[in-house]
Amino acid sequence: MKKNKKNKIIIIIDSGIGGLYLFKYIKNLNKNCIYIMDNDGFPYGNKNYLYIYKRIYKIILLIKKKYKINLLIIACNTASITCINILKKKFNFKIIGTFPNIEKAKKKTKNKNILLLGTFITINSNYLMKKNKKNKKFNIIKYYSSTLVEEAEKKIVKNKINKKKIKNIFNKIIKKKIIPDTIILGCTHFSFLQKEIKKIFKKKIYFINYFSNIKKKIKKYLSKKNEKTKKFFFYTKKFFLNLNFYNIIKNKYNFNYIKKIKI
Ligand code: DGL
Repeated sequence: MKKNKKNKIIIIIDSGIGGLYLFKYIKNLNKNCIYIMDNDGFPYGNKNYLYIYKRIYKIILLIKKKYKINLLIIACNTASITCINILKKKFNFKIIGTFPNIEKAKKKTKNKNILLLGTFITINSNYLMKKNKKNKKFNIIKYYSSTLVEEAEKKIVKNKINKKKIKNIFNKIIKKKIIPDTIILGCTHFSFLQKEIKKIFKKKIYFINYFSNIKKKIKKYLSKKNEKTKKFFFYTKKFFLNLNFYNIIKNKYNFNYIKKIKI
């Protein structure tokens, strides 16, 4: 990692590939950016708050030694819900996160039935409990699935997907009397599976993913464009099953370089 304190840099962090959609967007904005895939801590969705917080804190401290961070984007609902507030207290740069957008879903649904998908931690969080209190008008089905997270990873990392496994996750829901017409993809990984989920429901579904809300927040913080931008991809664990993955990622997303970091 070269010392580079002059150029301001945006950091996107997730346990895996969940934030790559957002990376594409930042890339098009011409900004210096480091994408951090904390795959040594993956999955975050079944860990506790302290575990997730400690990992992100250590990683960001390490990056901060070498780079001038002007914005940290936590592209992970689980991490945002559990530790964005404490991270904001620890660092003096802007930090924004991704959260399930229930308000938008309430506006979009016509049959008042919403499916909220997330990780175990997200679905059982106090954050959602509080958000869900005054909820008599809407039926919000909260559903967690670690299989869905794994399948999203496999789709990107190994270019493989098990459609049957994905379909089974929704078996109970598609048999309900009233099927939700709006689905909140409350885990950044799930955006990669939107097409597959859409097919299972066989009806018009309005999907709420994490982009629109966070894009607005990002624009608020960014003004000038960088001239020559650098894009790095850092990861915390080597994939032994598909070493080619890093080359695929490098070429697909045009990273200047890819590196393993040790925390
Ligand atoms: N992408 C993360 C999220 O949005 C979760 C994936 C994981 O469980 O590590 O919640």
